[in-house]
Amino acid sequence: MSRTSDTSDVGSDVTPDVLVVGGGIIGLVTAWRAAQRGFATAVLDPEPGGGAAQVAAGMLAAVTELHYGEETLLGLNLASARRYPEFTAELTELTGQDLGYRRCGTLAVALDADDRAHLRELHALQRQSGLRSEWLSGRECRRLEPMLAPGVRGGLRVDGDHQIDPRRLAAALVTACERTGVAFHRVRAERLTVVRDRATGVVTSDGTVLSAGQVVLAAGSLSGRLAGVPAEVLPPVRPVKGQVLRLTVPVRYAPFLSRTVRAVVRGSHVYLVPRENGELVVGATSEELGWDTTVTAGGVYELLRDAHELVPGITELPLTETRAGLRPGSPDNAPLLGPTALDGLLLATGHYRNGVLLTPVTGDALAHALTTGELPEEARPFSPRRFTAALTEQPA
Ligand code: GLY
Repeated sequence: MSRTSDTSDVGSDVTPDVLVVGGGIIGLVTAWRAAQRGFATAVLDPEPGGGAAQVAAGMLAAVTELHYGEETLLGLNLASARRYPEFTAELTELTGQDLGYRRCGTLAVALDADDRAHLRELHALQRQSGLRSEWLSGRECRRLEPMLAPGVRGGLRVDGDHQIDPRRLAAALVTACERTGVAFHRVRAERLTVVRDRATGVVTSDGTVLSAGQVVLAAGSLSGRLAGVPAEVLPPVRPVKGQVLRLTVPVRYAPFLSRTVRAVVRGSHVYLVPRENGELVVGATSEELGWDTTVTAGGVYELLRDAHELVPGITELPLTETRAGLRPGSPDNAPLLGPTALDGLLLATGHYRNGVLLTPVTGDALAHALTTGELPEEARPFSPRRFTAALTEQPA
């Protein structure tokens, strides 16, 4: 590197093989896995471990968040979910940190006849896709979760959809990176530098020029805004706002819920994710409002109203936090992973609603791509080139 910026670095005076722009969970897992493969690696972020993971609920919901038309994404989601037990065990062993990984399962419930019809369709799609889920009557749902409203009309029990605490995950990934020798530059990336059709590094917000063998753009919803990235490889990601609440379950009410409970109420998703430490996360709005991260009265009202219809007892709980984050949405709701049409520039972004779930598989896919120049088989459908090809296709 030409000049070091404000860092807490290990070896920051060395030109890294890999420079990761963005220190959210996706950037961190990429850096950690790259460093494990022997690459001298650096991460550029004013606040490593921050970003959407500070807001996300941490559902690992490959089965309950299945949507029509997203069967390819399902394959990647399941591949990542399968990695979770080993991934969390490895991180905990390295860092000594508990990640709040909880294999408690999920119950998706219906409150009226329309919801029930909707859930029946989801059940059919899950079965067609070879996924495990069990249809329960309203009574059976309440037997599992006695705090559910008497009006619950039925539900889907999915024992394979688990949860993790994304804040703990982010903190552990920062530690894992530090222990693996990743250097941190606590500044913003201002511009990608490109020399003779190859990405060569970035210029930071304090004017420092950082060179690198390969650059990975992993800046979440901000990934489409880095100056200097040629238009044809600029990732088509956009911010999708999610407001999320945190409540606390007093010990006298525990166990309030024993698994994640979710529903679609008046067309909006609402979920309640109970942590072992008594935190209850209620999410999330989905709003296309650009870079706005205001917590609004309307957002909080709607979440509490819908959550209250599912679990009336939540109104007794202290409301401890309200926050909004930005999901990195992509045109097909799937991530952009691996090499771009610009040599030396790779992407790890666009994870939309699945960033936490896709963290393990993203780390492995990017490490593979950095090493071989190619994505592993399971990640090939998610090459950013699927969008570049569409952009450059000429009409016949
Ligand atoms: N995956 C949950 C959300 O994005 O709200």
